[in-house]
Amino acid sequence: MNSRRKFVQKLTVGLAGSVLPAEAFSALTRPAFTSDDFWENVRSSFPLTKDRVYFNNGTSGPNSQRVVDKVIAKTNEFSISGEYGSTNTAREKLAAFVKVKTEEISLTHNTTEGINIVAWGLPLQKGDEVILTMHEHVGNALPWLNRAKLHGIVLKTFLPAQTAAENIGIIQKLISPKTRVIAIPHITCTTGLVFPVKEIAAIAKSKGIFTAIDGAHGAGTFDLNLKDLGCDFYATSCHKWMLGPSGTGFLYVNEKHLDTLQAYWVGAYSDNGWDINTPSPSFQGYVATAHRYDYGSQSAALFAGAEESVKFLEEIGMAKIEERIKALATHLQKGLTGLGSKIQMLTPLEAKSRISMITFKIEGTDFKEFNTIAAKNKFRIRVVPESNLNAIRISTHIYNSFEEIDRFVALVKTLV
Ligand SMILES: Cc1ncc(COP(=O)(O)O)c(C=O)c1O
Repeated sequence: MNSRRKFVQKLTVGLAGSVLPAEAFSALTRPAFTSDDFWENVRSSFPLTKDRVYFNNGTSGPNSQRVVDKVIAKTNEFSISGEYGSTNTAREKLAAFVKVKTEEISLTHNTTEGINIVAWGLPLQKGDEVILTMHEHVGNALPWLNRAKLHGIVLKTFLPAQTAAENIGIIQKLISPKTRVIAIPHITCTTGLVFPVKEIAAIAKSKGIFTAIDGAHGAGTFDLNLKDLGCDFYATSCHKWMLGPSGTGFLYVNEKHLDTLQAYWVGAYSDNGWDINTPSPSFQGYVATAHRYDYGSQSAALFAGAEESVKFLEEIGMAKIEERIKALATHLQKGLTGLGSKIQMLTPLEAKSRISMITFKIEGTDFKEFNTIAAKNKFRIRVVPESNLNAIRISTHIYNSFEEIDRFVALVKTLV
């Protein structure tokens, strides 16, 4: 055993199996991201059962113990004081997490809510075109389909290709003088394809087209800088890759679009003043920030949990997390493709077009049957019936290990 490994092990004695205090990550000498000592420590911060392997972060990310504790503590605190708390610091923390201004963040309950705010708020006319993929999650499909149904906008869809260059080319060909919005996911829920959002946003901007990104899988996966990405809107939730509480999410609205994106649902905190105690009621308009899109009481306890999840991720380091997520998924993809021709790999092989989720099919084994086999062998996976793919999706996050992936690949091997 080399000396650094011994040193790290010494440091971690007594921590394994216990809940790491907030300071623990910064106190640890961080080994290279490939060292499992560090990640075993991270794993021990999650109450997530070890009775099975959890490979479904793409649906729901388990919370670390400190996030759970924070929500409970805040719920207790508010119950004792009778106060309902505030979400102000959470809004600030979330904004800083994705490197935008606090004024550009609206707090939502989930990604779908953010997408609805954009889909309804943009000034679109009958015949205006919106570009989407044929691989949308219902959360990005239905808001736009609904607007198309009610207001006659036209949805133009495309089948995602395997490389960034091809996807850019396809989108460029779909753009017409009537295109007003490109409303695609950062990462598809079907095959885990990563779209080159920065390049697409630049093309859109040069043509006066809005980019509205479904970022359900982006926050907590990438070391995100939304200003650098250059999109106009980015909707996400805290309960997936950010490992935060269910019922928390946020929407980024570039400040230059605040007066373009109409707020339709308003209430307390959305306004700049109003008076109804008069025969001539008045409304002085919207608050100058993206707070205009969220209103009324929010769950301060849940958002305190979301804030805590950001602290947790930041203490580990988002660059390191992104690297680890990619390393795990790459290991899985290599393991599966190494099993031969009976594996149909649906996730792109191109490095920049994949990150956290691997989707595949096994010749001769139905995807639902495989789900049952996986469950019997203590793996929680997700099937992908969407877009008629009938495939298997594996998501891996920082609490997973290379060893779990090897065990999974060994299971698949018994079927090919
Ligand atoms: C790509 C994508 N978009 C949107 C959603 C909807 O997210 P939410 O449940 O937070 O509204 C999901 C959820 O799985 C998703 O995978």
